[in-house]
Amino acid sequence: MPSPLILGLNSTHPDSSAVLMNEKGIIAAIAEERINRKKHCAVFPALAIAEVLRIAGASASDITDLALARDPTANAGAKLAFIAKNPRVGLAMAKLRFGMHREAARSAEQMSDELGVSASMVKATTHHVEHHLAHVASAFFWSGFEKATAVTVDGAGDFCTVMIARCEGNKVEVLQRCHPPHSMGVYYSAISGFLGFLRYGEEYKVMGLSAYGEDRYAEQMKDLLSWDSKKGVQLNPEYFLYLQQPGEDAYERHEVMKEGEITMPPMWSKRFEEVFGKPRERGSEYTQRDRDLACSLQRRFEKVYVEMITDAIAKAGHKDLVMAGGCALNGVANGILVNSGVCDRFYCHPAAGDDGTASGAALHTLHCKLGLARTPAVNHAYWGTGWSDSDVARAVDATSNNGITIKRVAREQLISTAVESLTNGKIVGWFQGREEWGPRALGNRSILCHPGWPDMKAILNARIKNREPFRPFAPTVLTEKLSECFEGKHDVPFMNIVYKTRPAWREKLSATNHEDNTGRVQTVSRSQNELYHDLISAFSKKTGTPVLLNTSFNENEPIVHTPEQAIACFARTKMDCLGVGPFWLEKSAELASKAEQIYQSKA
Ligand SMILES: [Fe+2]
Repeated sequence: MPSPLILGLNSTHPDSSAVLMNEKGIIAAIAEERINRKKHCAVFPALAIAEVLRIAGASASDITDLALARDPTANAGAKLAFIAKNPRVGLAMAKLRFGMHREAARSAEQMSDELGVSASMVKATTHHVEHHLAHVASAFFWSGFEKATAVTVDGAGDFCTVMIARCEGNKVEVLQRCHPPHSMGVYYSAISGFLGFLRYGEEYKVMGLSAYGEDRYAEQMKDLLSWDSKKGVQLNPEYFLYLQQPGEDAYERHEVMKEGEITMPPMWSKRFEEVFGKPRERGSEYTQRDRDLACSLQRRFEKVYVEMITDAIAKAGHKDLVMAGGCALNGVANGILVNSGVCDRFYCHPAAGDDGTASGAALHTLHCKLGLARTPAVNHAYWGTGWSDSDVARAVDATSNNGITIKRVAREQLISTAVESLTNGKIVGWFQGREEWGPRALGNRSILCHPGWPDMKAILNARIKNREPFRPFAPTVLTEKLSECFEGKHDVPFMNIVYKTRPAWREKLSATNHEDNTGRVQTVSRSQNELYHDLISAFSKKTGTPVLLNTSFNENEPIVHTPEQAIACFARTKMDCLGVGPFWLEKSAELASKAEQIYQSKA
């Protein structure tokens, strides 16, 4: 058998993406939005495919297997039962899915069209991997665990909302599936929408808001969502419109989604309004009702999440746990889960949302379909595009640098200069190495600051991020200092667990310590990211704080992809300095004041 070169795709689905791997493991992974700059877009990921091939030095004709993270034949019984019960909506949904599947099934053809290779050159065998099986495979096969319980949770994919599986060696044995309309993701998205967060992917903002409320609606929430060991997730249909509405515009919405972020239709019912009042208008002030509802939404989610996972572990019989799916990005719930002792080791895929299904489809194909040996565990997320020093030099040379000082520096000087700036409360852009796979900036496409600088959270929001004040900023801590600063012991290389900040550190980490004294932690070890670890170590040596505030390098856009975009973001915002490859850029006082004026006028 020739060496496999597998292209995994999440195509014509939100967060479309491409992953390339061979029998040795992952080569490259990237989401289309990073390149086409359309957030959460649901297109055929032609640019991402071209990029992963470029990184590998391969061409489309080298691909032996095309792994698509969707399987139109999956869950046929559940789909038919739904259509029989809800013919009008069911048929509209079926029409939408049929169109999407037909589009995805043309992937090999589209690849030859869009990459400009002749169809006869594309000889890959196409494999369809059910959406949740792809989520399971993405987490288990990268975890390095020999045996594990897998739990994947999201809104829905291939008519499944939860999958519980027993994973051993190369085998994935599905033990339980839940089907729409019973969905933890719909529960969270519907109530987030009610609170004014109707844009795709905004649920994490509500998680931030929940820290400001009281669990005043605990009793009412019990009626909305529960876990039943036999029946699975139970969503009370009286409160939700999901899959009850006419779906005539569903296809049009899907078409709009190709262009990026969309606004979802309301998914709460009249009954929901009778119990909880009128929905919050986007842009209006937050009331105590809104904060309390966010809190009760989150508390109920956590309770059902932990109950479901405890049950899953009992059924599968393995205490090491692997997770993926959009709901597995709920770091607050993950913190409660791992600190409860329900599981031993915990691995959540770095791209736990639907972008990650591209890696899962490829991994499932490699291990379960082709039967090849397990590839090494993946404990870092730096699988995207990297830029050579000469690429960065070209971008720096093209900068109209009136008022920007540019220095080329050696590695040690880059670190010491950055530490000097961070220590003095400066906001530093940090564009180094290969970009991260998944939604989080993990120290290669990041904006960094002193986590204990007075008012740093407000300064950062006013100068750069311009976002809701209740959203916390994340801390990156040296792995070896995790337990000293936070109440947690599981490493968090992908920033998907929230831990309590230890009392002694709350003041010193004032800019990352959230209202409820927590932090959405990232741990970094030297083997995961040498430069970033060295930077934080040097900062720690100087200040005594082994932590940096880390937020994504962007301004209301997908995370920057090219050095040119990084420099442009640096120039137009009130970032003070930028370490881009071997270059150190700093603004003059005059330019800084100009940027300030632009910001004031925007505000
Ligand atoms: Fe999903």
